[in-house]
Amino acid sequence: MTRNRCEVLAASLDEAGCGVGAVEGIGEVHVADLLPGETAEVLIDHHSPHAPRAWAHVARRLGPTSPDRTAPACPGFGRCGGCAWQHLAYPAQLAAKRARVAAAIGDTPVPLAQIRPSPQVTGYRNKGKYVAGRDAAGHVVLGAYVPRTHELVDTLGCRTVAPVIDEIATWIRGAVEGAGLAPYDEATRTGALRYAIVRESGGDVLVALVVTSKTPRAAVERVANALAHHPALRGIVAIDNDRRDGAIIPSGATAQVLLGHGYLLEELAGARVEVGAGEFLQVNRAQAAAMYARVAELAEAGPGTVAVDLFAGLGGIGLHLARAGATVTAVEIDREAVAQLRRAAERAKLPVTALAGDAASPPDQLPTAPDVVVVNPPRKGLSAGALALVADLAPRTLVYVSCGPESLARDLAALAERRYKPDAIEPFDLMPGTAQVETLVRLRSA
Ligand SMILES: C[S@@+](CC[C@H](N)C(=O)[O-])C[C@H]1O[C@@H](n2cnc3c(N)ncnc32)[C@H](O)[C@@H]1O
Repeated sequence: MTRNRCEVLAASLDEAGCGVGAVEGIGEVHVADLLPGETAEVLIDHHSPHAPRAWAHVARRLGPTSPDRTAPACPGFGRCGGCAWQHLAYPAQLAAKRARVAAAIGDTPVPLAQIRPSPQVTGYRNKGKYVAGRDAAGHVVLGAYVPRTHELVDTLGCRTVAPVIDEIATWIRGAVEGAGLAPYDEATRTGALRYAIVRESGGDVLVALVVTSKTPRAAVERVANALAHHPALRGIVAIDNDRRDGAIIPSGATAQVLLGHGYLLEELAGARVEVGAGEFLQVNRAQAAAMYARVAELAEAGPGTVAVDLFAGLGGIGLHLARAGATVTAVEIDREAVAQLRRAAERAKLPVTALAGDAASPPDQLPTAPDVVVVNPPRKGLSAGALALVADLAPRTLVYVSCGPESLARDLAALAERRYKPDAIEPFDLMPGTAQVETLVRLRSA
């Protein structure tokens, strides 16, 4: 018979913000709202059928509260799933993130540097994403799904987004109610407004209303006209999405401009880049700029350096390398981002050639013997093809910018087989309140 009650002393914190402790006869127990060092009697909600692991909630707290426990900033904390570490004081978050990297990568030839803290702990996000729905009383809600459910939590009042984003989201809710635009219902697949995206740059705001192809345009225009009175609004677009796979903006979707411009101007290494609603951009602008500057230093970019930037996005890294004097070839799979990067580099007169393609089978125009390659893949890390490309390019210096410590560890092992050894490993915090951590690794070929 499985036990449903036990005592847990949490030793660490998982990505979802649960304290994790070992219990004899059960294994690893993940307890909601229990911090490392705290003990509680818990009730088990679920035993994993595959591993000695269970999930639980606190029935009764035992012993002292952790000195690192702090009041979460957001009203939706604990339900929206967005910033699951907000109840842990920031210095302790930083220590836990660094420990996460250390645990993933294990023994390395160089010590792991101290983690670089974010200059802002709240209000740092330049983009808010909201699912539209209704509450029990029938009022419009903009929020997020409780993890692993379709229960919507109202996220207005979120303190992680820039304050103007939260303000505009509140306006959107009012305008949607006023215009009688029905939120989409996932269960019945009826309704008009699916998501709202609010992006901010330099105090300017772009709103994307993600609707269905059947949504009456007149109602969407009424929402846009009501929002137009907000002084920060620079553009409103409507994007059709009839898909059922959870994609918020389907790749290749076109944005219909309802008001102003369909993009915001963002500055990357002094170059002005047009950013639409869907393009990838690091959400913490100030800390991303610090990280890009450090990448350029680690890459030793200077006049004469030939560099390749793989997984380039809008060019945050490539433009910094070029600003330092390097000649850069950037590869990115998103064609729209490539077009924007080309335009930005031309306007700023920076030597960046932006190529659309897959890093696993890139276009022919790559330089044959670059001095440095920078890779910044999505969380799953490098594919076998991308690893093979790095080996073929055979740079003396490789800078790996990772948002996934576990995939980084796997890729470092694969790169060691190709005789690349780390000589600097530096974690950066770009997302306070979450378990996320970026790691910069410089490797040299032996
Ligand atoms: C973590 S983001 C980094 C973007 C950019 N370096 C930055 O700092 O903003 C990863 C980028 O890789 C792109 N990407 C994903 N898969 C790719 C692939 N197979 N080949 C090339 N680019 C890819 C994504 O579109 C995204 O822009």
